[in-house]
Amino acid sequence: MNKPRIFSGIQPSGNLHIGNYLGAIKNWVKLQDQYDSIFCVVDMHAITVPQDPAELRRRTIEVAKVYLASGIDPKKSTLFIQSHISEHAELAWILNTIAKIPELEKMTQFKDKAQKAGKESASVGLFDYPILMASDILLYDTELVPVGKDQLQHIELTRTLAERFNKKFGKTFIIPKAFTTKESENIMGLDDPTKKMSKSASSEYNYIALTDDEETVRRKIKKAVTDSGSEIVYNDSKPALKNLINIYSLLSEISPKEIENKYVGKKYSDFKNALAEVIINYLTPFQKKMAKLTDEKVLEILEEGAKRVRPLAQKKLREVKKKIGFVA
Ligand code: AMP
Ligand code: TRP
Repeated sequence: MNKPRIFSGIQPSGNLHIGNYLGAIKNWVKLQDQYDSIFCVVDMHAITVPQDPAELRRRTIEVAKVYLASGIDPKKSTLFIQSHISEHAELAWILNTIAKIPELEKMTQFKDKAQKAGKESASVGLFDYPILMASDILLYDTELVPVGKDQLQHIELTRTLAERFNKKFGKTFIIPKAFTTKESENIMGLDDPTKKMSKSASSEYNYIALTDDEETVRRKIKKAVTDSGSEIVYNDSKPALKNLINIYSLLSEISPKEIENKYVGKKYSDFKNALAEVIINYLTPFQKKMAKLTDEKVLEILEEGAKRVRPLAQKKLREVKKKIGFVA
């Protein structure tokens, strides 16, 4: 029996951080046994905001290394670079013609990013970004899309477009579902627990990068904002502490309740010191695995992945073109 398919991707556009790992990649590693899994490095999404070409190239390979070092197994899952499969852009163009401008205008990620860029300089690509994402998902008959909560609006749009296309041209696309878990709830910024941890944050004190060394982790955790009071408690009245406890809990597989019990009568600084060690204990072996992966090896895996998905993408796009009346 064929396993149901999952598809997900991350942009090579900044330092990957523990939010990316805890919110997305950690789930993928668990899912790859049960699902036919495709994981993509979405470089075409990354260029919707300005990128330095050399950096983009370096980060694209680095994201693939992060997937592999986190435990994505190329024998079980398929990894590839989005721009290696030109069908993504072709399908996006076709989907553009059935999407409506107000549907894109209401995307919160677009509004946030456009505001950051300055409304006048936001690119048309940035506006169109969710359509490219829909095309990534729909090309492969994806059933589930494991993502962090912030992507739910994009998946909803993908479903709308797939339904609209099917209605107009006959059943072509599977209607995908988002897959989120409690873990994929947003990890918030260390410098501001009201905003999600983000690789494009202006301060490095916002995030713990997956490449941070021990000294940096200790420094950043020491500086992380905490709430007033001194008790280590897990609730919404202490959002900064709640976020730190979440990180501790997800990396150590100890529940927030147990963490509270462990730190009764202890100070914030005791908790923070322990949290830094939990993070370091995770990052050290991870970084060792990353360092062992050569660019050549990783490129080989990505080429192999592109070879595997190309026929799937070609078949789906052929079907789409035929349905809309393009001459074969
Ligand atoms: P991005 O960094 O926006 O390319 O996101 C890559 C993946 O990581 C997506 O599935 C996001 O939902 C997830 N993600 C990004 N930032 C966070 C965060 N702060 N907390 C949890 N998940 C996140
Ligand atoms: N937009 C996603 C993000 O920023 C990345 C992405 C692009 C993606 N294409 C996708 C995620 C397809 C899941 C499926 O996180």
